[in-house]
Amino acid sequence: MTVLVTGAGGQIGRAALRELGDRGVGLRHAELDVTDAAAVRAAVEEARPELILHAAAWTDVDGAETDREGATRANVDANRHVAEAAKAVGARLVTLSTDFVFDGTKREPYVESDAVGPLSFYGETKLLGERAALDAYPEGTWVVRTAWVYDEEGSNFPRLILRLAETRDTLRVVEDQVGSPTYAGHLAPLLLSLPDQVPPGNRHIAGSGAAPRREWAEAVLAAAGRTTAVEGATSDEFPTPAQRPAYSVLASELADTPVLPPWRVGVAACMAGFSA
Ligand SMILES: NC(=O)c1ccc[n+]([C@@H]2O[C@H](COP(=O)([O-])OP(=O)(O)OC[C@H]3O[C@@H](n4cnc5c(N)ncnc54)[C@H](OP(=O)(O)O)[C@@H]3O)[C@@H](O)[C@H]2O)c1
Repeated sequence: MTVLVTGAGGQIGRAALRELGDRGVGLRHAELDVTDAAAVRAAVEEARPELILHAAAWTDVDGAETDREGATRANVDANRHVAEAAKAVGARLVTLSTDFVFDGTKREPYVESDAVGPLSFYGETKLLGERAALDAYPEGTWVVRTAWVYDEEGSNFPRLILRLAETRDTLRVVEDQVGSPTYAGHLAPLLLSLPDQVPPGNRHIAGSGAAPRREWAEAVLAAAGRTTAVEGATSDEFPTPAQRPAYSVLASELADTPVLPPWRVGVAACMAGFSA
C-alpha cells in the first residue's frame, strides 16, 4: 500500500515516514505546496496512494494572527484541495486538527461532540479546515484532533525546555494551561491504521491523561536527568499574540477510538530517542 504524506518535513510527517519505510511517499513543503490545487492534484495522481496523511499545515499559532490570509490558504483551502484530490483517486484521507478549536472553559476532557469556540485565528482556520475536508469528501475523510505534539526534532516545547535548562538553574513555566502532550512517535502509527479501524469522521486522539505545562516540563527535565528547578507561572506573565485555551485535554467519547499511551510514557519514549 502506498501512503502519500504531505508536510513530510514536519514532526508528524517525519514520524509517519519513519513508520512507513518504503511504503511512504513523503513530500516536503519545497516539493509540494498544498495551497496550490493543481500541484496537489498532480502529486496525488502521480503517487496514486491508497492513503493520504495530510500533515502539512500552518502551525505558527501566533503568526496566524497577523498573516490571516496565509493561514487560511494553508489550513482551510489546502484541506479542500487535498480532500478533492483524494476523492478523485479513491484514496482515504487522514487530516489533522487541534485542541485549539475549543475555548478551554471546560474542566474535564473535551470529546468530539463538545461545542467548539476557537480563541485564536489558528484555531479558527483549523476548524474551517476540518469542515472543508469533511464537506468535500465525507465518505473518505478521517479528521484527527490532537494536541501539544512533540518529537525528537523540530520546534516544540520539550526541546525548548531542554535548551533553556542548559543555561538556567531555574525555569518559570505556566501551570494554568492544561493539555494532552502527544508524542509524534506514538501518534503517527495510529494515524496510519485509523482508517482500517473506525468509520470516517472526527476523532480525538492525544496522549492520555492531563498535564499542566509545568508538569510536562518537569517530566521532560527528569527524563533528561537534569536537576533544573521549575517554578509555576501564569500565562499573563508570558503574553502572546494568540490566546491559548486554559484547559484543552482531549478524550474520545467513541468506544472504538484507539487510545495512545499515557503522556508520561510518551515523554520517556521521546527522551530515549534524544539520547539514542
Ligand atoms: N504541533 C502541535 O502541537 C499540534 C497540535 C495539534 C494539532 N497539530 C496539527 O498536526 C499537524 C502537523 O503538525 P506538526 O506538529 O507536524 O507541525 P510542523 O512540525 O510545523 O509541520 C508542518 C509542516 O507543514 C509544512 N507546511 C506549511 N505550509 C505548507 C504548505 N503550504 N505546503 C506544504 N507544506 C507546508 C511545514 O513546512 P515549513 O516548516 O517548511 O513551512 C512543516 O514541515 C498540523 O495539521 C497541525 O495543525 C499540531
